[in-house]
Amino acid sequence: MPTVKSVETILLDHPDAGRDHLIPILQEIQESEGFLSQESITKVGQALAMPSSKIFGVATFFNMFRFQAKGKYHVMVCRGTACHVKGSGRSLDMVTKALKVQPGETTRDKMFSLEVVACMGACGLAPVVNINGQFYAKVSPMKLQRIIEECREKEQVHANA
Ligand code: FES
Repeated sequence: MPTVKSVETILLDHPDAGRDHLIPILQEIQESEGFLSQESITKVGQALAMPSSKIFGVATFFNMFRFQAKGKYHVMVCRGTACHVKGSGRSLDMVTKALKVQPGETTRDKMFSLEVVACMGACGLAPVVNINGQFYAKVSPMKLQRIIEECREKEQVHANA
């Protein structure tokens, strides 16, 4: 679990920060809060004397940053070489359609968020999907659909309990 630091504390840790500190600061905020909110971006902009729009523009260039809070189930689809060769792209297509989100986004009900990652270090199990820290091996689109449905069913059981 990462330590939760406020944006103010992170900015205080970078007292004479200039524009070249932008990426490390954004990384720390995302590590602490899980994503970059509009409010955090505004605070960074004030501290670095940069317009929020510019910061947003820079951050969107790097696909490591997300701008929405993660969902209850955070789905990471590996698109590293081994997983790509074994067809992870088809699972990614399926899951974007099934959840109606693009990588970096969270479903409206905040249940699922989607992220595309490079190699997760489990190439022998390719194609790999990781949900909330749990690895799923040799994931086909059909298998991923089943896993997503199981998550939904689990939630329904909780809701009806
Ligand atoms: S490429 Fe997917 S785990 Fe290595």
